[in-house]
Amino acid sequence: MKSIYENVEKVILSAENLKLTVERLAQEIKKDYIDKNPLIVCVLSGSFVFAADLVRAIDIPLQMAFLSASSYSGTAASGNVEIKPIKGFHPEGRDIIIVEDILDTGITLKNICEYILNSGANSVEICVLLDKPSRRKIDISAKYTGLEIPDEFVVGYGLDYNEKYRNLPFIGVFKQLD
Ligand code: IMP
Ligand code: MG
Repeated sequence: MKSIYENVEKVILSAENLKLTVERLAQEIKKDYIDKNPLIVCVLSGSFVFAADLVRAIDIPLQMAFLSASSYSGTAASGNVEIKPIKGFHPEGRDIIIVEDILDTGITLKNICEYILNSGANSVEICVLLDKPSRRKIDISAKYTGLEIPDEFVVGYGLDYNEKYRNLPFIGVFKQLD
């Protein structure tokens, strides 16, 4: 039987290191938002695992909202980003923290930030698990970053290749098998 582990070249964030990274980010967010009741915006689908762990490590009042953004097919970037708010998305007047899996070219997060600011949010900050600064096409950075990584395609912990491998419990470099 084929295992998804066969498609992993190397592990770059183990389950243990993911836990430490998420706890550090949670503490940073808690310190900045202690009296703000932030609205944590989980960007689907890639950040569903990260956001679930992150919010459970933050013990101050907060609320959750969801939107989907898609800009990818396989490993090739495109400038087209489709943003769809999920029912009950009300950012008006709120202090928003966008939680995203990875900051790559920056096109997706730029579009999401603009979308949320245009919807009347009070403030918008970005929290990403991973950042590939060498791939940036747009001048954008996250306030909260888990780990900077080189230009390698990674999967696991929510991140996919063609919608697969999201269920790996760690982040690994993807290996294409014939
Ligand atoms: P950006 O618009 O180029 O910054 O792309 C961000 C989106 O591309 C992320 O939300 C991911 O869905 C996807 N992406 C970028 N790099 C990777 C990767 O290494 N593995 C999986 N998805 C990626
Ligand atoms: Mg994504």
